[in-house]
Amino acid sequence: MATMVGKQDDFTKALQELLELDYDAIEAYEAAINRIEDSNFKSKLSDFKIDHQRHVTEISALLRSRNADVPRGPDIKQWLTKGKVALGGMIGDNAILTAMLTNEEDTNTAYERMINHPEMWKEAAPILESGLLDEKRHKSWLESVKNEQ
Ligand SMILES: [Fe+2]
Ligand SMILES: [Fe+2]
Repeated sequence: MATMVGKQDDFTKALQELLELDYDAIEAYEAAINRIEDSNFKSKLSDFKIDHQRHVTEISALLRSRNADVPRGPDIKQWLTKGKVALGGMIGDNAILTAMLTNEEDTNTAYERMINHPEMWKEAAPILESGLLDEKRHKSWLESVKNEQ
């Protein structure tokens, strides 16, 4: 199911959902890192997880500075659920990377919506733009390894 994150009219609400998506990403990366066998893949996925942790820190700070509620975890563990289903039915690193590519397609969609949100806070722009660059990099790498196999 494609993500709805970024479609909320209220920017605060959209940002809270983006934060939950980043939490979701961290859990899915943890599951993937625990299962993947190739050590180069493992270290790459670990780097990507750190990027998502940084996004959580930055988005939480943004919400706090506006006195908005700050979610502390994923709302619906959509990625993890999807990851588990995929991992249960498929075997091997390639299946894990494919599941993570699908997940990163969601982050790219969500961040692109957020940087075009009509109510975006001025101070959020640099954070969301640099977040989008990270998400693009994650997606490109997953696409490139998939094409090699
Ligand atoms: Fe992110
Ligand atoms: Fe990502």
